[in-house]
Amino acid sequence: MKAIRQQAADILRANDRGGFTIPAAGLYPYQWLWDSCFCALGWATFDEKRAWEELSWLFKGQWPDGMLAHIIFHHPDPSYFPGPEVWATHHDPPTSGITQPPVVATIVRQLLERACDRTLAQDHARQLYPKLLAFHRWLHGARDPEHTGLVAVLHPWETGMDNSPAWDTTLEQVPIVQLPPYQRKDTSHVAETQRPRPKDYDRYLSLVVGYRERGYEPEALYRETSFKVADVGFCALLQRADEDLLALAQMFGEPSAEIEGWLDRGRKGFRKLWDDHSGIYRSLNLSTGESIPVITSASFLPLFAGLPSAEEAQRLVEHLGHWGDEVRYLVPSTDPADPHFEPERYWRGPVWVQVNWLIAQGLKRYGYAALAGRLREDIFELVEGSGFHEYYHPVTGEGLGGRAFSWTAALLLAWPGEG
Ligand code: DGY
Repeated sequence: MKAIRQQAADILRANDRGGFTIPAAGLYPYQWLWDSCFCALGWATFDEKRAWEELSWLFKGQWPDGMLAHIIFHHPDPSYFPGPEVWATHHDPPTSGITQPPVVATIVRQLLERACDRTLAQDHARQLYPKLLAFHRWLHGARDPEHTGLVAVLHPWETGMDNSPAWDTTLEQVPIVQLPPYQRKDTSHVAETQRPRPKDYDRYLSLVVGYRERGYEPEALYRETSFKVADVGFCALLQRADEDLLALAQMFGEPSAEIEGWLDRGRKGFRKLWDDHSGIYRSLNLSTGESIPVITSASFLPLFAGLPSAEEAQRLVEHLGHWGDEVRYLVPSTDPADPHFEPERYWRGPVWVQVNWLIAQGLKRYGYAALAGRLREDIFELVEGSGFHEYYHPVTGEGLGGRAFSWTAALLLAWPGEG
C-alpha cells in the first residue's frame, strides 16, 4: 500500500506545472476544472499549501461574470487540440468558453474539514468564498434563466462525460458547420478505439464555433444553442455543491437565503428527472422536453446530493446490483445492458475513479456502506492491477486512455482514510 501511495504522489509531482496540475502529459497539457479539484484533494494529503494553490490557479480562469472555464491555457502547448486559438476567448490567461461539473465548492469544504493546518484552510476558504458564490450565481442565472431548478449544459464537454451515449440523439441535432481542416491530437496519444468518434468531434467543434461567433454571450448561447440538456450528473453535483456552499456561508457568517433558494428550486426541478416507472434518474433534452432514455453512471450521482427518498435510493441500489451482475468492476459509465455500451470507449462504458468516489460517498450517505466499500475496492484492484490510468475496462480491468493520470493518483491518496 505504501508503494502505491508513493507512486500516486510521484504522479502528482510529475504532472505539477508550478501552481496547477495537468491531468496527463501530452494528452491534456493544461489545467482542467474538475480534474484540478480532485487533484487538490490528493495534494492535501501531503502538501496542504499546494492543494490551496491548485484552486487559486483555477480561479485565474474565472470570467468577470463569474463563469469558471473548463480549461485554462496557462502556457502554450502544441500537444493539445482545440487550443486557445480555436476558443479565442480574449481572457487572460486564455481559457475555453464553457464550464465543467461544479464540484469546486464541495472540494473547498472537504479540504477545510480534512485540514491539519486550520488557519491556512480558513484563510484560503474565506478568500475563495466570494468567487465560489459568483460561480454559482452565474450557473443559476445564465444557465437557468427561467428558474426551473434545472441548470442547462450547452456542450457535451460541460458534462465532463463527453461522448456518453446519453448525448447521442441531442448531438445529432447539432448542425455541422463549415470547419477549417483540423487535426485531432488526442488520437495520437491514445488508441482511436478508446476515444470519441470523428463525427462527435465535428459537432463538438461546430458548437464551439457557434459560441465563439456569439462572443460567448450567455443569453445568446442559452437562446440559440442546438445542444441544451439538463444533465442529471451536472445538476446533482451542483445541488451538492450548493449544499456545501451553504455550509461555508454559515461558517463565515455570510447571508444564506439566496443559496437556500437555489437548493429548494433544485429539489423541485429534480423531480422532473426521476422516472418512477424504471426507478432511475434520467437527463432531459431541454430543447425538446424529452427524457433521455440511456442510463449512465451519472444517474447515481443524485445520491451524493441527498436528492432521492430512502425508497428511491433503494431502487438505485438495485440498478447498481444488476450492473454488477453484468461486469466485473463497478461502476461502468453506461448501463452494460444498453446497446450503446462500449466497454473501451471513453465515456461509453469504462469505469472512472472519480465517479466511483462520488457515488460511494452518496451510498454512504444513505447507509449502503458495504456497496460503497465495493466501489472503493474495485478501484484499488484496478489501479494495483493495471496502473494509474484515466479509465478502465469494466470487464477485463485493462487500463485505458491516458497513463500516469492525475485524478486517479489524487483520489487513491485521498480515499483510503475514509473506509
Ligand atoms: C477533451 O479534449 O477530450 C476534453 O475532454 C475536452 O475538455
